[in-house]
Amino acid sequence: MDLSNLNPFSSSDHRETGHLKMDKPDTSRRLDEMQQGVISKSLNRPDGPLKVSGTARYAAEAEADDMATGVLVGAIIPKGRVVSIDEDAAMKMPGVLGVFHGKKLLRNPAQGTANQAPIQPDGEVSYMGQPVALVVAESFEQARDAAITLAITYEEDDDGVFDPKIAEKEKPDGKQIDQGDFDAAMRDAAATVDSRYTTPVQSSAPMEPHASVAQWNGDQLTLHGSYQMLNYNKNELADSLGIDVKNVRILAPYVGGGFGSKLGIAPEAVAAALAAKALERPVRVAMSRRTVFETTMRRSETSQRVQLAADKTGKLLGLAHHASVSNLPDEGFTEPVAAATHFLYGGGSRRFTYEVARLNRSCAGSVRAPGEAVGMLALESAMDELAHELDIDPIELRVRNMPEKHPESDIPYSARNFEDCLRQGAKRFGWADRRPVPASRREGDWWIGVGVAGAARSNILGESKALVTLNADGTALVETDMTDIGTGTYTILAQIAAEMLGLPLEKVTVSLGDSELPEGPGSGGSWGAQSSGSSVYLACEAIRTKVAKALGCAAEDLTLKDGIATGGNNRKPLADLLDGPIAQEGHIEPGATMENFDQAGYGAHFAEVAVNAITGETRVRRMLGVFAAGRILNAQTARSQCHGGMIWGIGGALHEELHHDTRDGHMVNGDLAEYHVPVNLDVPQLDVLFIHQRDDHANPIQAKGIGELGISGAGAAITNAIFNATGVRVRDYPATLDKILPYLPD
Ligand code: MOS
Repeated sequence: MDLSNLNPFSSSDHRETGHLKMDKPDTSRRLDEMQQGVISKSLNRPDGPLKVSGTARYAAEAEADDMATGVLVGAIIPKGRVVSIDEDAAMKMPGVLGVFHGKKLLRNPAQGTANQAPIQPDGEVSYMGQPVALVVAESFEQARDAAITLAITYEEDDDGVFDPKIAEKEKPDGKQIDQGDFDAAMRDAAATVDSRYTTPVQSSAPMEPHASVAQWNGDQLTLHGSYQMLNYNKNELADSLGIDVKNVRILAPYVGGGFGSKLGIAPEAVAAALAAKALERPVRVAMSRRTVFETTMRRSETSQRVQLAADKTGKLLGLAHHASVSNLPDEGFTEPVAAATHFLYGGGSRRFTYEVARLNRSCAGSVRAPGEAVGMLALESAMDELAHELDIDPIELRVRNMPEKHPESDIPYSARNFEDCLRQGAKRFGWADRRPVPASRREGDWWIGVGVAGAARSNILGESKALVTLNADGTALVETDMTDIGTGTYTILAQIAAEMLGLPLEKVTVSLGDSELPEGPGSGGSWGAQSSGSSVYLACEAIRTKVAKALGCAAEDLTLKDGIATGGNNRKPLADLLDGPIAQEGHIEPGATMENFDQAGYGAHFAEVAVNAITGETRVRRMLGVFAAGRILNAQTARSQCHGGMIWGIGGALHEELHHDTRDGHMVNGDLAEYHVPVNLDVPQLDVLFIHQRDDHANPIQAKGIGELGISGAGAAITNAIFNATGVRVRDYPATLDKILPYLPD
């Protein structure tokens, strides 16, 4: 499509109203033209000192007079129902105030998606660890003591299903694609790959355990919670309790990581609210680490088959991705394994299949880049296998397969720069020194190798509102119900407002995490910064229009810097210009650019590993991530996001695996001692490079998501490096030493 035919966004209506529906590309570069010079800079987080000094209050630290403490009790059967609970015995124990149970407590975590009420199992237990009761006492120790000894009688069904291999599979509607003649492509190809990959169950494992403090004032519930998307969470909570959403307020000013597990409300929020209502006292329920593992969402294990058919130049003729995943019976979420496979590479004949095993294991949901994080472990490994098969450089192979248009929907792409990421990364990493023949570099007891993988994650714009107030004293306030889950939201929203309003950063206060503030998109799907940031930008545009009017100049002629307005022949400090505060709401809505253009962030991961010739253990020696994700709002917080993603890539490649016993669905290693995430010694120097990009189709600030881009593909660069180092191709993640050692060369 010739993009010059599209009328670029040129009207200035949003400068008056603060409202924009993203129907046209926005080619303006206003953020680049501003004078304050704080946007995109590496600036420290204003919330940083609060966090390192322990003064930032997390949900469990909320205080209230007369607080009682609740402890959740999880089912010890995987399938069946509760017949009775001996409340009387518990109530006689010291300090115990109440034992709560019933249908509302027998619940699955909510998925955090719009208008989807949490599933209320009909009094049935469907996985081990599912909360069946809450014991509330004066102290945590008393509640825990009573919870441990609580006598519960169950009726257990004997038809629980725990092993995905033997479970019945459902084929979800709308996910099976068959395009062209895939079988013919495989038949006619000069080279093919047909490989199976498996990835284990993973846990989001946020640092802060889920916690809620519930307090009622008449009909009004205030809940201090640790959640990602307050706009949805307040509705989920109201639905669960059967009350009007107007009566629910959720406060989450600080969230210690979510990684998907806090997208929707978890069982502790409902339990705390029910108990607080009944006892007429504030109730705190903080999950233990074990409970976090068992009752919040896990990532599905996957079994994947990737088939590639190429001609002798490496050009793909066909591509197929088949995925088997699991979830509880009736849960709607299916790990979107092939998410990136749909748009990353060409190949006219394409086949995609999905099947979902229904298991009595903990609930599966979104965890750190649902789809790409595990799907690209397979796809990017298969591309490496094809490159090896054809003796083509893996970077060249990828470059040869970048389609002009989306290979399935036929729509154009927005800004990509995928090739730039690969090429610039190759240069910076020293890819030219790679030895293409596996197992050809040895240093003492170590086999050394390098690997590359593409990174890609769909970009999303979510509807968002923010209220910005510019005060006559040259300070500003930004207010939205958006959350900062450790990502840097406080910082980047302050930077956008400071840049647009011409104020030093410290003059801007950002207020987040209160469901009574204007509704934002929440933190999920890596859409937070660009969506929330766009609403702040639009509010500031409207404020600038008013300031320009007061000064007597056109909005485009206005310069704001350090609290001084300049325009036309006038120059005035804001203090002299304004009679009072100017408050404007900014409101961004996704529009046609999201449907008519395939938008994604792109990148390239490079890894160098050393594999021990005696033990088979892998050490990542260095990693480079190169990313093209539109405007980078803060180089430092963005780099931190990418570091986090790359570290999870190391975890996915080498460490993380959550096990359920296939006999009874019991979670075997639900704690941070046995569920291995990368620790300091596992993480080498991580280098991050951003490619200069503005994505005009994404939003008016031309920024895209980065949080989950950093993980997508990262692990495959590591297993590809293991292959280059040793000639051992690990397709069963994680690549622990037992999967390498027996196959090492002499
Ligand atoms: Mo993310 S897994 O959408 O929090």
